[in-house]
Amino acid sequence: MELSHVVPWGRSFREYRKMFCLTDSDLKKSILGCGDGPASFNSGLTSMGGAVISADPVYAFSAIQLQARIAEVYAEIIPKMEATQSQYIWESIPSVDALGQVRMDAMLRFLTDYEQGRQQGRYVECSLPELPFNNKQFDLALCSHYLFLYSSQVSLVQHLDSVFELLRVAREVRIYPLVTLDGSPSPYLQKVTTALKQQGADVQLLSSAYVFQKGATHTLVIREQ
Ligand SMILES: C[S@@+](CC[C@H](N)C(=O)[O-])C[C@H]1O[C@@H](n2cnc3c(N)ncnc32)[C@H](O)[C@@H]1O
Repeated sequence: MELSHVVPWGRSFREYRKMFCLTDSDLKKSILGCGDGPASFNSGLTSMGGAVISADPVYAFSAIQLQARIAEVYAEIIPKMEATQSQYIWESIPSVDALGQVRMDAMLRFLTDYEQGRQQGRYVECSLPELPFNNKQFDLALCSHYLFLYSSQVSLVQHLDSVFELLRVAREVRIYPLVTLDGSPSPYLQKVTTALKQQGADVQLLSSAYVFQKGATHTLVIREQ
């Protein structure tokens, strides 16, 4: 992976809590954040005493490299968000400027925590569909804004392999959102849920408390029965 191909854009602990409907009891579980990138979920949960490991290919880079790339990408993404404003619901985040502030606050919090977290093994460089973790190492695996969202870039086979890999390492998996970048339902959702059910998994759609991208109303919850 080349740094120039990395597009760091991270959400906050508060946003993760809403996206994944995380209860106080969920936050006491052993959690994997897969594809966390520069989100501040790990930093936020760690500061509360939680047990969390984030997994992402961008953890190949140093804080200085990621910080420089965040600055470049920020200047590119904000005009794109201005141009696609109609695809979002501007309620809890009222404007593009406010969005920029929320994202930058989250990424700065990540950067502040990152080098120490890497040394502590809380940020692990790896890529789906192969994770370097033991079977059922985690109670809960979360995957925000990677699977389903990038259905044009990530194939059905990669989706299937990734979801089964997440279920290998965690007792429960939650994925959000279930729509693609343009807000349309992912063409893979039905096929993935059918495959999971055929393997005996319990699959549910949970109404998400997070409101931002239009159409992104549900979280996929998968448990082995
Ligand atoms: C749009 S960002 C979302 C970051 C974070 N989850 C959030 O919601 O703020 C997508 C993330 O998926 C990561 N990613 C890309 N390919 C991946 C793979 N094969 N396995 C795991 N993560 C991957 C990217 O590096 C990036 O950090």
